[in-house]
Amino acid sequence: MKQTSLEMQNTVYQRISEYKQTVASDPYRLHYHLMPPIGLLNDPNGFVYFRGRYHIFYQWNPFETAHGAKFWGHYISEDLVHWEEAPIALSPDSWYDKNGCYSGSAVVHDDKMYVFYTGNVKNQKSERESYQCLAISEDGLTFEKKGPVIEVPKGYTAHFRDPKVLQQDSRWYMVLGAQTVEGKGEAVLYSSSNLLDWNLEGTLAGSGKFGLGDFGYMWECPDLFTLNGQDVLLVCPQGLSQKGYDFQNIYQSGYFAGKVDLDKPSFQHGEFYELDHGFDFYAPQTTMDAKGRQVLFGWMGNAEEEGVIQPTIKHEWIHALTIPRRLTWQEGRLIQQPIEELQSIRTNEQRYVVTGIPNTKLDGGKAFEMLIEVNKWDAKRFAVKIGKTTSIRFDATTKVFTFERQSFNQTGELEQRYCVLEKLESVQLFKDTSSIEIFVNHGEKVISSRVFDDLNSKEITLHADGIVEATIRKWDLSQVTTY
Ligand code: FRU
Repeated sequence: MKQTSLEMQNTVYQRISEYKQTVASDPYRLHYHLMPPIGLLNDPNGFVYFRGRYHIFYQWNPFETAHGAKFWGHYISEDLVHWEEAPIALSPDSWYDKNGCYSGSAVVHDDKMYVFYTGNVKNQKSERESYQCLAISEDGLTFEKKGPVIEVPKGYTAHFRDPKVLQQDSRWYMVLGAQTVEGKGEAVLYSSSNLLDWNLEGTLAGSGKFGLGDFGYMWECPDLFTLNGQDVLLVCPQGLSQKGYDFQNIYQSGYFAGKVDLDKPSFQHGEFYELDHGFDFYAPQTTMDAKGRQVLFGWMGNAEEEGVIQPTIKHEWIHALTIPRRLTWQEGRLIQQPIEELQSIRTNEQRYVVTGIPNTKLDGGKAFEMLIEVNKWDAKRFAVKIGKTTSIRFDATTKVFTFERQSFNQTGELEQRYCVLEKLESVQLFKDTSSIEIFVNHGEKVISSRVFDDLNSKEITLHADGIVEATIRKWDLSQVTTY
């Protein structure tokens, strides 16, 4: 028999309480990242500032550490650092979302929160159906579903999802991730005057469109905003093959920048740049907050590759969101920096000035931030090893910056991700119990990955094969997660 929404939610809450100890006893539970209380988390959704508080929702399968019929989990914060768990926002309990309340976004209109998401349905023939749905909240805690507002238009497959809604010149726009019947990834644009009735405007960007060559068979999770006069489209293309140091993960996440015409629609844009060069980053979403900042959260995960088993599944949970990042546009590039509010959890500052390293040892810890500013460089290579198996290195001759971790698969071999830098100026590194986020050269490049190292090995070793003078500051970061 079909469960009502309430019954479904009660089953979830029972499961959370039943496994509370199992989850909490995981030493890899993170100290300052958003995680699911149980089960699997993927994309951040509905990120919005509403009545003085930040709301972030997330794709959530509370029943397994695997993908399935997604709920929207919900966290609320006043400062983007301390988060409080809110009741389940959306459950897959209706005919139009019975196989998942998939990703989407939120906007504020008339002091109400309007949430748009994709209803994922597997029909009796086991075929996929997609509906773009609306739910409205008056209090930011309970959501009233209004049902589908858009069905898949002609020319597209049922891979049509992840609505991101924005407002420009008092008109509403929605950007969707899509696949054409020819098997090409696109971002599709709709518009509306009242958030209820939506008109299909056309393709905003896509594989084979507006000067872009072949660029994947599906685009997921688009986001569109303007930074310093540049229109930026974030998108997650699937189906790109690795090219040198680009596109090293199974699915990609990056941006195009240029000039959007929402009336036509069209987008004259430049190249695609990846947002992150680590192993675990996908499906980011941004919002503009009350201070006028464009803030981004990403999923610190990606589609699972075969044989990759994260140790947290023994404790009935998997995946986390990244720390929030502030986006700015500087010298023709998108720059990402950790949100400054995170400075409020710094404690126990240590300061070192290292000169002519070759082998300097510092004390690490479970959860810390480290800022290395290079003052003088007369070396070929510089490396930092954190714990037993995680390291970064820069080679000034090849200009390659390498991140290395131990793989989660059976063999436990070391594996790498790369990016290219003109020179190394600074590294700001956020280590949590089982994750690392590295902001290189003040946010020019970012590398995010989960890492499962021995939690007792706290040593940080710096090494250079010549003279590298650097100022290093390090802080322990307090545990703020209570879930
Ligand atoms: C991206 C994604 C979205 C979809 C959601 C389902 O990770 O595949 O396209 O809406 O996850 O959980």
